[in-house]
Amino acid sequence: MIIAMDGPAASGKGTLGRKLAEKFDLAYLDTGALYRAVGLSLKRAGHGPEDADRAAHAAKTLDSDLLNDPELRSEQVGHMASIIAANPVVRANLLAFQRDFAHQPPSGKAGAVLDGRDIGTVVCPDAHVKLYVSASDPVRARRRLHELQAKGVATDYETVLADLLERDRRDSQRATAPLKPAQDAVLLDTTELDIESAFERACQIVDQWQRS
Ligand code: DC
Repeated sequence: MIIAMDGPAASGKGTLGRKLAEKFDLAYLDTGALYRAVGLSLKRAGHGPEDADRAAHAAKTLDSDLLNDPELRSEQVGHMASIIAANPVVRANLLAFQRDFAHQPPSGKAGAVLDGRDIGTVVCPDAHVKLYVSASDPVRARRRLHELQAKGVATDYETVLADLLERDRRDSQRATAPLKPAQDAVLLDTTELDIESAFERACQIVDQWQRS
């Protein structure tokens, strides 16, 4: 079973994806971490995210140690990842890894959950369950603000909202593999749902597929 989870930043897809993977005993891949790792390797080498050739090279020779680096989650690296992700060569260079993970999941798992922006549309158009997770802009901004404050980052609501909207715009307006729901995706709006209710709904959708 392959589950594709797509949606904008701070929609809750990562938390839901991890919980689904645990419940259904599936491998889990946060594909945003791959784009972030490319950003981090450029940053550490002193290059900007617009350096297309260096980004393409870093994606081809991805350093998997970076996937566990705490700096991966920083807002600056997220911002770089979003710029880098518009580069079609970077996307092409990361595609095989993601598809292999989905079709031959590690640790002998019987399937995988992948979360990102283009999983249902490009990486795994054959996924058995496709969820497009969304939430209103203010709710996403508040969630992200709380996450950042919990990590001790000094920021405010207006800054976080502006960053999210800029990221959404870039991710959904790029020419290659833009953020959008696959035609056969089930939409899960988490604006009014806490994590447990959203998870219950996601489980129902997976159960429905398993029974069909
Ligand atoms: O989900 P995230 O915030 O970690 O993702 C960081 C950036 O990576 C996001 O702004 C866009 C890009 N990304 C992408 O283009 N395609 C994916 N499948 C996952 C992430």
